[in-house]
Amino acid sequence: MAAKNGSIKLVAGNSNPALAQEIANWLRLPLTKAVVRRFADMEIFVQIQENVRGSDVFIIQSTSFPANDHLMELLIITDALRRASARRITAVVPYFGYARQDRKVGSRSPISAKLVANLISRAGVDRVMTLDLHAEQIQGFFDIPTDNLYASPVMVRDIKERSDLTSLMVVSPDVGGVARARGLAKRINAPLAIIDKRRERAGESEVMNVIGEVAGYTCILVDDIVDSGGTLVNAADALIANGAKEVYAYISHGVLSGGAAARIAGSRLKELVITDSILPTEAVTNAANIRTLSIAPLIAEAISRTASEESVSSLFD
Ligand code: R5P
Repeated sequence: MAAKNGSIKLVAGNSNPALAQEIANWLRLPLTKAVVRRFADMEIFVQIQENVRGSDVFIIQSTSFPANDHLMELLIITDALRRASARRITAVVPYFGYARQDRKVGSRSPISAKLVANLISRAGVDRVMTLDLHAEQIQGFFDIPTDNLYASPVMVRDIKERSDLTSLMVVSPDVGGVARARGLAKRINAPLAIIDKRRERAGESEVMNVIGEVAGYTCILVDDIVDSGGTLVNAADALIANGAKEVYAYISHGVLSGGAAARIAGSRLKELVITDSILPTEAVTNAANIRTLSIAPLIAEAISRTASEESVSSLFD
C-alpha cells in the first residue's frame, strides 16, 4: 500500500516485535531495517538503515515494561527519523505507559502522563495513535493529533463468538471504569453492574460493594489495565460471593507485573482475556486461564486509513 503523499514506512522498537511484525503482515509491508541496540553502559543507539526521506513513517512501540527504556527508544527513533527527513512521523503506542499518572494525586506530586506527552511531541512526533487510554482526556495532553483506538470491537466479536457465555452481565471493577464497561454492555446488549472499590494503600485494592444484582449471571469484568491482578482477583471473589455463576475478564492491556499471572491462575476467574498491546511474558503465555486477542488487524487498518487520510473514528461506529 502507498500513502497519499509518499511511501509508508513501519519502524519497530524493541517493545513488541511480534505485534509490529503482525501489523506489517496485515499491511503487506516490510518492517523498515533499523538497528535499535544498547551500548555497554545501556545507552540506546538507533540507526535507520533505509532511506526514509519524504516518507510517512509509523513507529510501533508500546511504552510497556521496562517503561523508561521503551519510552527512550521511542524518543531516539523519532529523533533519528526526523534528522533523516521523514515527512510525517506517527508514534503508534498501543500501550501508553505512565497513563495512570494523569493527575496530581497529592501535594508536590507530578503529572507524569503530561510530561511523557511533552517528551514525545518535543522529540518530533507529528501524530500519536494509541489504544484504550487510561483516561480519554490524556489526548488533550498532546497538542498534535491523537487517535485513541478501542479494543472493544475485537472483544465484542470474541464474546459473541463464544457459545459458552450465556446470561451475561458486564461489570466495571471500579467506579472510574463505568463509561468503558457501559459501552461494552451496550454493544452486547447486557446489563451493567459496578464494584465500589476502595484502595486503602497505594498498590493494593480492596473490593467493598457490588452495585447490581449479579446472582445467576455470567459476569464479564471490563477494564483498561490488569497490573498486579489484585483488582480482578478481588472483584471475582466479590462477584462469586454475591451469587455470580462464573466470572470472566476482558482487559485491554495485560501489564501483569511480578507474580500477576500466577495470581490470576490461582484466582476464581474462569478466564482473563487480554490483547497483545503488550508482549505477553512466558508466564502469561503459559497461564491456563489467560488468553490473548490480537489487535494487529485493528491497528493495521487505522494505520492504513491514516496514511490515506480516511476516517479512523468510523472504525468504531
Ligand atoms: C485503575 O484505575 C485501572 O483501571 C486498573 O483497575 C488498575 O490499574 C488495575 O491494577 P491492579 O491489577 O494492580 O489491581
